[in-house]
Amino acid sequence: MTEARANGALTLRDATVADLPAVMIIENDSFTDPWSEQAYRDTLESEQAAMHVALNAAGEIVGHSVTYFAADEAELATIAVAASARRTGVGRGLLGHALLICEARGSRKLFLEVRESNAAARAMYVAAGFSPVGRRRAYYSLPTEDAVLMLREIGPAESPVGPVAGS
Ligand SMILES: CC(C)(COP(=O)(O)OP(=O)(O)OC[C@H]1O[C@@H](n2cnc3c(N)ncnc32)[C@H](O)[C@@H]1OP(=O)(O)O)[C@@H](O)C(=O)NCCC(=O)NCCS
Repeated sequence: MTEARANGALTLRDATVADLPAVMIIENDSFTDPWSEQAYRDTLESEQAAMHVALNAAGEIVGHSVTYFAADEAELATIAVAASARRTGVGRGLLGHALLICEARGSRKLFLEVRESNAAARAMYVAAGFSPVGRRRAYYSLPTEDAVLMLREIGPAESPVGPVAGS
């Protein structure tokens, strides 16, 4: 899906190289172990990945996400929202958009890993219909921490954006 999709005051669209300076500010502010700009450039060139940005009503980038695809499974590889825009539905909007793209590409499952201590992200994922299905010991560094593996089934009879409606 390449066209922009409006979600209330939020616009969700495919990312471009021109978005990377704004993305990197959010990235570096959001993670102790941020992705490099080159990692995002590689992602933009990959046919097995989709990168999206969320723009506020002023047209400013306020969040981004990356989803990887392999056969009928997908992985939400990263998602981040500008600190000044958090708790306003941007993360929910990006997640709902990723689920729509997963459905469009035929994914039946969306996996993700999240730091065990990341209560905000875990609450967002549970609210969007994800369940914990495993643990990866010492998956993260800076600081070393376990990852919780979470899964959202994308069933044919179920709208992928159902649990995130209202965003
Ligand atoms: C996690 C993150 C992406 C959430 O983005 P956000 O735009 O603030 O989330 P939303 O406003 O869409 O919130 C959606 C729901 O998630 C939950 N949630 C989000 N932040 C929360 C918090 N700080 N505490 C508790 N629940 C929270 C709530 O259920 C919320 O719904 P509600 O506001 O109606 O109660 C954001 O906090 C972030 O960028 N954190 C740093 C990067 C990060 O940790 N990324 C995830 C890596 S796995």
